[in-house]
Amino acid sequence: MRAVPAAIDDVLHRTIDSGGHVCVLTGAGMSAESGIPTFRGTHDSLWSRFDPMRLATAGAWREDPALVWGWYRWRMHRVREAQPNAGHRALAQLARRVPLWLVTQNVDDLHERGGSTVDAHVHGSLFALRCFACGRAHEGPLDEYVDDAQRVEPMRCVACGDRIRPGVVWFGEALPDDAWNAATDAAIRCTLMLVVGTSGLVYPAAGLPALARRHGATLVEINPEPTALSAEVDHVLRATAARALPQLLG
Ligand code: APR
Repeated sequence: MRAVPAAIDDVLHRTIDSGGHVCVLTGAGMSAESGIPTFRGTHDSLWSRFDPMRLATAGAWREDPALVWGWYRWRMHRVREAQPNAGHRALAQLARRVPLWLVTQNVDDLHERGGSTVDAHVHGSLFALRCFACGRAHEGPLDEYVDDAQRVEPMRCVACGDRIRPGVVWFGEALPDDAWNAATDAAIRCTLMLVVGTSGLVYPAAGLPALARRHGATLVEINPEPTALSAEVDHVLRATAARALPQLLG
């Protein structure tokens, strides 16, 4: 196992010793080693099989809700079958050593199942279901998962009868105010930001590292590949989340 570069180890321990806060921003790469495909990766990438603009928009939902719901049911099933990885568990442990705000772009619940409290799901949550029309939260049970069913008729709202949608942020939709406010507050106040498993391509979330830096934070990128953010970070750990994060714990 490669040791963590001394500079990263130092900034982490300086943060702990000075009572500073760590903000962790995660993306799809955080869940890759749990078997959840990333959006823009190679081979097993989620989007490479589907046209994102075809599925993750309100327009696609209006046009063909059964296809969109079938895709999300497949994603929910994959998440339910997945387990948190060593990276998720390491972040939960890190939070016991240093005040830590966890901001994720991921809509899965693997951080929570790995023992973390998530301060901001800036792109919503797969399992936070609500009515497409009246917005009422769907508290009832999830419909039965049908393996390989491409099209599944969505459940109906008990209040208004319209279709139930996933609580994720679709392209063109606003981010949830409370999550975005928590995320920007964490970026502004943190001493150190760990940017884990994100390509840094989708704004406004991709702007959080620059916001943190403008407020004096040190930025560390943890990603096996270079990203759109690599030029603006202070340190890079070219490694996967499940390998690098446990190493941070020493
Ligand atoms: N560990 C860490 N990083 C990894 C791993 C891994 N095991 N495997 C892949 N990565 C990196 C990739 O190198 C890439 O930089 O994770 C990143 C995944 O990038 P994307 O697939 O673009 O995912 P993300 O950055 O989270 O996308 C942002 O775009 O489609 C929208 O709403 C969706 O939240 C998503 C947003």
